[in-house]
Amino acid sequence: MQNTGIAITGSGSAIPATFLDNQGLTKLVETSDEWIITRTGIRQRRIAKKDESLAALAATASKRAIAMAGITPPELDLILLATSTPDDLFGSACQIQALLGATRAVAFDLTAACSGFVFGLVTAAQFIKTNVYKNVLLVGADILSRWVNWQDRRTCILFGDAAGAVVLQANQSDRLLGFELKSDGSQNNCLNLPFHGQSKELTPGVFISQGNFQPITMNGKEVYRFAVQKVPEVIDKALFRANLCAEQIDWLLLHQANQRILDAVAQRLNIPQQKVISNIAYYGNTSAASIPLALDEAVRQGKIKSNDIIAASGFGAGLTWGAAIFQWGR
Ligand code: UT7
Repeated sequence: MQNTGIAITGSGSAIPATFLDNQGLTKLVETSDEWIITRTGIRQRRIAKKDESLAALAATASKRAIAMAGITPPELDLILLATSTPDDLFGSACQIQALLGATRAVAFDLTAACSGFVFGLVTAAQFIKTNVYKNVLLVGADILSRWVNWQDRRTCILFGDAAGAVVLQANQSDRLLGFELKSDGSQNNCLNLPFHGQSKELTPGVFISQGNFQPITMNGKEVYRFAVQKVPEVIDKALFRANLCAEQIDWLLLHQANQRILDAVAQRLNIPQQKVISNIAYYGNTSAASIPLALDEAVRQGKIKSNDIIAASGFGAGLTWGAAIFQWGR
């Protein structure tokens, strides 16, 4: 019999060594520890140095996930990297493949901002369900500190750097119980990191545009409203597909964007606080890394146990949002 179910069999994470606490931010912008904690729940974040590349951080997280899954890098068939901040605009997944020595694996990047991990989970699952691949490494990694405007107090207080990874394996029973993914490009201007090009005439009549990416801009209130409304909807839909109800969830694992968003979503879904996984206080919003980082911590702390049902949901730029309901372990 073919194993076309999916099991998530390993997790790993990696964080840069450098801390930046809220007190440190008061030296950059007019803000306070109290404002940041009250409005976001964030106390500190990690910041990657110049020599801490995204690929290196991702490879460290990946090695831990691969070890937990009990396989070796040459057994990987596919490496998917969810990121918006590659070391190379052509993609960083191949660099991770080389660092791991995953010689058989095909590797590519996937960009869906803070929804990247959930979008990647569903994408990775399709290759297993169609019996194409057996062992897939999914990494969510971002170094948003490269792209934050450190003079903008409305955004610079939020973000941090990290990487998280999981291994998905072909399994007899399917542990990905349901999902729902959504996009709405008409609201792109709520949160973006756009390319700004200057027009140059290359030869008579032939114009090119060259320039740079601009720092993150965000309409915080709109994104907040969007998240609190859309995330419960998409979790409900994924639960419906899984034939489950909210009471059956063991853990609510949301993209760690703002503690107030975590609280509001849990309240709307009637999920008690003790089932909500939160580590935002220590890392801030680490974009595509936030869900696998929080998952890995909870697994290693022994909170998440084999067979636990997890409702994960990512949301962010695009705009994109999505949810996946899965059971931990084989
Ligand atoms: O991955 C998804 C990405 N993003 C998100 O999920 C972000 C969602 N949005 C949020 O988390 C919140 O909107 C923020 C935390 C960004 C902002 O919180 P808020 O409660 O929506 O604050 P606000 O933007 O309405 O600002 C309230 C006040 C303003 O002052 P006035 O105009 O009322 O006098 C701001 O200028 O707070 C001021 N303010 C600050 N004060 C101290 C804004 N940022 C700061 C700051 N320190 N860092």
